[in-house]
Amino acid sequence: MMVGVPRESFPGERRVALVPAVVPGLIKAGLEVLVESNAGFDAGYTNAEYESKGAKIAPSREEVFGRADILIQVLCYGSNDRTGAADLPLMRRGQFLIGFLRPLGTLETVQAIAAAGVTSFAVELMPRTTRAQSMDALSSIATASGYKAVLIAADTLPRFFPMLTTAAGTITPARVLIIGVGVAGLQAIATARRLGAVVSAYDLRPAVKEQVQSLGGRFVELPLEVKDAQDAGGYAKAQDEAFYQRQRELLGKVIAESDVVITTAVVPGKKAPVLVTKEMVDGMAPGSVIVDIAAERGGNCELTKSGETISVKGVTIIGRINLASSVPYHASQMYSKNLSNFLLTMVKDGKVNVNMQDDIISNTLVTEGGEIVNPRIREFFALPALVAQVG
Ligand SMILES: NC(=O)c1ccc[n+]([C@@H]2O[C@H](COP(=O)([O-])OP(=O)(O)OC[C@H]3O[C@@H](n4cnc5c(N)ncnc54)[C@H](O)[C@@H]3O)[C@@H](O)[C@H]2O)c1
Repeated sequence: MMVGVPRESFPGERRVALVPAVVPGLIKAGLEVLVESNAGFDAGYTNAEYESKGAKIAPSREEVFGRADILIQVLCYGSNDRTGAADLPLMRRGQFLIGFLRPLGTLETVQAIAAAGVTSFAVELMPRTTRAQSMDALSSIATASGYKAVLIAADTLPRFFPMLTTAAGTITPARVLIIGVGVAGLQAIATARRLGAVVSAYDLRPAVKEQVQSLGGRFVELPLEVKDAQDAGGYAKAQDEAFYQRQRELLGKVIAESDVVITTAVVPGKKAPVLVTKEMVDGMAPGSVIVDIAAERGGNCELTKSGETISVKGVTIIGRINLASSVPYHASQMYSKNLSNFLLTMVKDGKVNVNMQDDIISNTLVTEGGEIVNPRIREFFALPALVAQVG
């Protein structure tokens, strides 16, 4: 079977779904690899490198879609809400599609993917189990985003990050607060510490306290009672509005004392909770910086404008989206390792085996045979459960 890698078409996207280093593993499993010309160029991978690893280069996107049995992308239609729709007519029934599909985005989009007849898998739905860890594309993206958010903050802040003792006096270190300590938050703590900042971090899941401390950060404890902080998969559970209100009141003081606030708090399938209000921004010193990694999901700061950088009374609020795309070489390397690990669990003797007994496959499968077949997505969009076909 042929694995096809189209060039990413989302405006400004620089990643590629497959890097040359993983091609030999796929060929060994009995697959062929066809890459659209220059698909890897913006991430730093040339056509010649793909060819030297055994991939073929296709001159056009149409050829990749036309010849591939398995299409792999970073941003498929769904997560690519700008140019992704143009791919739908290129798809054909029975073709496999793997990538970010934003399966809990809009029903119309998921229905359109189903109608294209493809057997699609959304990497966002990868179960958070030990076995699936090496396939977890969300973690890879979060790692790149957390790292980059700190660099952007350091570049924007009119202060040094580290403490410096110089002949011209002593410079005090920057105070950085990270709100939300998942994968992105942990990487942000580690990066800010490497730059010498004094780092505090807060999450509603008390389980992360030790992780924060092991990275040299201070865990901010708020006198708040959290009911069911996390689900079985390790994700935060949504709280009621009274909780968020109290959380904001308590966070205000910590935010006012910070030079940089990096927010990463999200709850799967929900709009990001507002944790930094306009009043809290007013309480920050001029020159302070907020980098809102949750911007794409509505933002943790009330004033964030998704995709934009704004200044409010001297406080810079950065709502840049798609941060992983700005570290494209390594973000692509990590993503393609995730994808090839996933593909290789499904491929036996050069053929794809959709084994629904495997939770990695049953959780990520979105559409098949023209239908949305994923029970979690059907429930999310209040679609009736599919009745199993007998005989
Ligand atoms: N395969 C695996 O085993 C695997 C892979 C990746 C992550 N994980 C675990 O899953 C968990 C979630 O990771 P993630 O990075 O995907 O999370 P995420 O991106 O869904 O959320 C980011 C963080 O925001 C926090 N948050 C949500 N609402 C908040 C609020 N109101 N106030 C403060 N914080 C809030 C969450 O608790 C989470 O830590 C982590 O424990 C992580 O270690 C496991």
